[in-house]
Amino acid sequence: MPESFDVIVIGAGPGGYVCAIRAAQLGMKVACVEKRATLGGTCLNVGCIPSKALLQSSEHFEEAKHKLAEHGVVLEGVKLDLAKMQARKGEVVSANVKGVEFLFRKNKVTWLKGAGRIVSPGKVEVAGETYEAKNIVIATGSESTPLRNVEVDEKQIVTSTGALELEKVPGHLVVIGGGVIGLELGSVWRRLGAEVTVVEFLDRLVPGMDNEVAKQLERTLTKQGLKFRLKSKVTGATKDAGGVTLMVEPAAGGAVEEIKADVVLLAIGRRPHTEGLGLEEVGVALDERGRVKTDAHFATNVPGIYAIGDVIAGAMLAHKAEDEGVALAEILAGQKGHVNYAAIPGVIYTWPEVASVGATEEELKAAGIAYKAGKFPFTANGRARAMGDLDGFVKILADAKTDRVLGAHMLGPDVGTLIAEISLAIEFGASAEDVARTCHAHPTLNEVVKEAALAVDGRALHI
Ligand code: FAD
Ligand code: NAI
Repeated sequence: MPESFDVIVIGAGPGGYVCAIRAAQLGMKVACVEKRATLGGTCLNVGCIPSKALLQSSEHFEEAKHKLAEHGVVLEGVKLDLAKMQARKGEVVSANVKGVEFLFRKNKVTWLKGAGRIVSPGKVEVAGETYEAKNIVIATGSESTPLRNVEVDEKQIVTSTGALELEKVPGHLVVIGGGVIGLELGSVWRRLGAEVTVVEFLDRLVPGMDNEVAKQLERTLTKQGLKFRLKSKVTGATKDAGGVTLMVEPAAGGAVEEIKADVVLLAIGRRPHTEGLGLEEVGVALDERGRVKTDAHFATNVPGIYAIGDVIAGAMLAHKAEDEGVALAEILAGQKGHVNYAAIPGVIYTWPEVASVGATEEELKAAGIAYKAGKFPFTANGRARAMGDLDGFVKILADAKTDRVLGAHMLGPDVGTLIAEISLAIEFGASAEDVARTCHAHPTLNEVVKEAALAVDGRALHI
């Protein structure tokens, strides 16, 4: 008799492992299938966590080299020990992935090691064994999108995975794609001494983020030394022992130019990972972009099969996947699990950081929604001045009639943390006035949020 579970989750990323833990907390018998040697998925192994470790380390290096002198801290002979930095990153990842293993043991979630394949509704095959499940959850995540004529070898032409593992600082790193990965990992290697050029197809960086924030981000990163080639496309790449030659031309077509690089980072987006899962055989429908099609309760068209995270529609973010994992586990337990997609923040961990939640001005205009905008710069904040981090601003958008907060867009020091206040405001249906009337400690960066909320009604105090 095959072993039987209430839920089998396929994939142990933030979506899958969180869904498994929550389902176990709710009393279900749960297994989670993972083919990688460690738990935690893209995020913990080759995504969020290692990239943030390198962002932190490289920021310390840049501070030691260029920023501390302004605070009267004089360091001489600052040197990079890249092997140590990479080893530390490995330890950070290892502690995190082992943490998930511990949580599985604690919650009695069975880890089925190997690649999972759905053989029929209610049956999953892993490493030659078949298991039965009342419910199957597809949480297989995403993978880097390839580009024709640009062949990834993870040494000279790398995805984010290879870019996190470089053993030497490249002389010239060319990044294809001015999105989140390109700017975060471009920043890491620029801080460590590489010349970095970002080739972006569109006329702007980070599509989807607020225009004003994107423009100021471009100016700030340019000041830091990143070079941008907007409205450009890469049409081919050739490799030899000396490096990579990229063929670049204007997005609209035109003269081809060659750019030489030591390393090329391909970061033009990620696509859902559905191969080898048996979806076609079982009849699970995909959408036009290859994502598993689900209804508002994460159910696919096949009864008993659900999907969450990067493999379905929506933002490809760890916390979105986690919230979907919790909501689905609660739905499977007969509760009313729910995700408020209007309150999911997005953060880019450059320095200064970028953070956004809710609607952008562009989206509100397109939807014909009348709104008020309040904006406040970090230059007028005492704490930001004390820190020496003056780039950026907070912008809050509120409904013109009801004053309800509809969105916030930020560029500045630690705005990835500050954004949580506005996510909470949106979740609670708060008004800009509510945020403005909330007492914020002085002197903190959070006061910029309060002042931006006051500015919605033209009554900011410190500008
Ligand atoms: P994944 O984390 O991709 O996990 C899916 C898992 O399923 C994988 O471990 C895979 O091995 C496994 N799997 C696939 N098929 C099978 C199968 N057939 N059988 C068994 N196992 C299978 N998001 C953020 O919110 N913040 C960040 O700072 C951030 N930084 C990122 C940095 C980088 C460089 C990258 C690449 C991504 C980053 N992301 C970040 C995105 C984030 O990693 C994803 O949104 C998140 O991991 C999605 O979670 P998931 O559970 O849907 O899928
Ligand atoms: P992205 O979607 O953020 O950016 C891709 C960029 O490449 C876009 O600006 C796009 O216009 C451009 N592009 C597309 N095709 C191109 C081409 N042929 N030539 C030049 N430019 C081209 O994708 P990215 O950076 O690969 O990241 C994938 C996803 O991973 C993100 O969307 C995000 O969901 C997640 N992620 C999240 C992070 C975070 O939350 N801090 C960090 C890193 C990744």
